[in-house]
Amino acid sequence: MSVKRVALAPNGLEVSSLIYGAWRLVNAPLQGHIPSIQRLLDLCFEHGITTFDHADIYGGYQCEELFGRAMNPALRSRMELVTKCGIRLINPARPHHRVKSYDTSAAHIRQSVEQSLINLKTDYLDLLLIHRPDPLMDADAIADVVQDLRQSGKIRAFGVSNFLPAQFDLLQSRLPEPMATNQIEAHPLRPSVFFDGTLDHAQRLRYRPMIWSPLAGGRLGDQPELTKILQLRADELGTSVEGLVLAWLQRHPAGLVPVLGTTNEQRLLRMLTAPEVAISSEVWHEILQAGMGHELP
Ligand SMILES: NC(=O)c1ccc[n+]([C@@H]2O[C@H](COP(=O)([O-])OP(=O)(O)OC[C@H]3O[C@@H](n4cnc5c(N)ncnc54)[C@H](OP(=O)(O)O)[C@@H]3O)[C@@H](O)[C@H]2O)c1
Repeated sequence: MSVKRVALAPNGLEVSSLIYGAWRLVNAPLQGHIPSIQRLLDLCFEHGITTFDHADIYGGYQCEELFGRAMNPALRSRMELVTKCGIRLINPARPHHRVKSYDTSAAHIRQSVEQSLINLKTDYLDLLLIHRPDPLMDADAIADVVQDLRQSGKIRAFGVSNFLPAQFDLLQSRLPEPMATNQIEAHPLRPSVFFDGTLDHAQRLRYRPMIWSPLAGGRLGDQPELTKILQLRADELGTSVEGLVLAWLQRHPAGLVPVLGTTNEQRLLRMLTAPEVAISSEVWHEILQAGMGHELP
């Protein structure tokens, strides 16, 4: 699978067509081990992944800082750093948080961006996302702080994650520039996204959704029929199961950009070296139905 450069939105931020996600850097087997993280980052770079996805809260507020220590600063100008804010976790690193909550106030966004810049050892973020829609979100207040952060050069682009089309439209209505993306969950065990309007919205506005948990967070094997079909078609097409699932996502006309979460070098390589495969509409629907667990109506 060749990693190309793609624009998330017309005239918008360019990213690699596969992105590496830093959510699991503290999980086994990495457990925050800097030389192992460096090896994964090197592998990404060697194969054309230059875009890295973060959130302030990943690893209980630890992953950004680990990445900042592991990354080669000489490569900063050749990479794109994405991070998110808007969730407050109950965590020893934030002893004043009493309740898990969402916070999209201007003060929280600004403070979170400043901390991410320190953690990632950089003076700008390529893309800032609001992590989840906050019921108390004040679109005017978010627009003001986003404009400010852009003008001061602290963020290059802005977008959202897990937003419904209506929530996206509300925020967009207050912003002078198109939002870069909506980062959403999609994989064969999450087929609703292909029918609920999320991807139609992306196509109408011509932004590419970033896709989290493209391998269902390791749960693709939970559905025996899906496991069987994926292995059969991967063998037929001469690719790996992981390569097939990425190609299946990328077959969608919305131009999906998967965010890879593996911490296993061999699995990462199986995705990065998977051959380009042409998936017919019939095979695409076969995988969809195996994931749904029933036939299409
Ligand atoms: N915006 C959001 O709300 C949101 C939410 C979640 C995640 N994200 C982003 O999306 C990125 C990717 O998410 P993800 O990590 O869930 O992606 P993923 O690639 O779907 O899942 C990776 C996980 O699945 C395991 N796995 C994959 N195939 C497996 C197999 N055949 N057998 C056993 N385990 C298997 C991996 O284990 P190994 O490490 O052993 O390969 C790893 O733990 C995150 O890093 C983060 O940046 C965003």
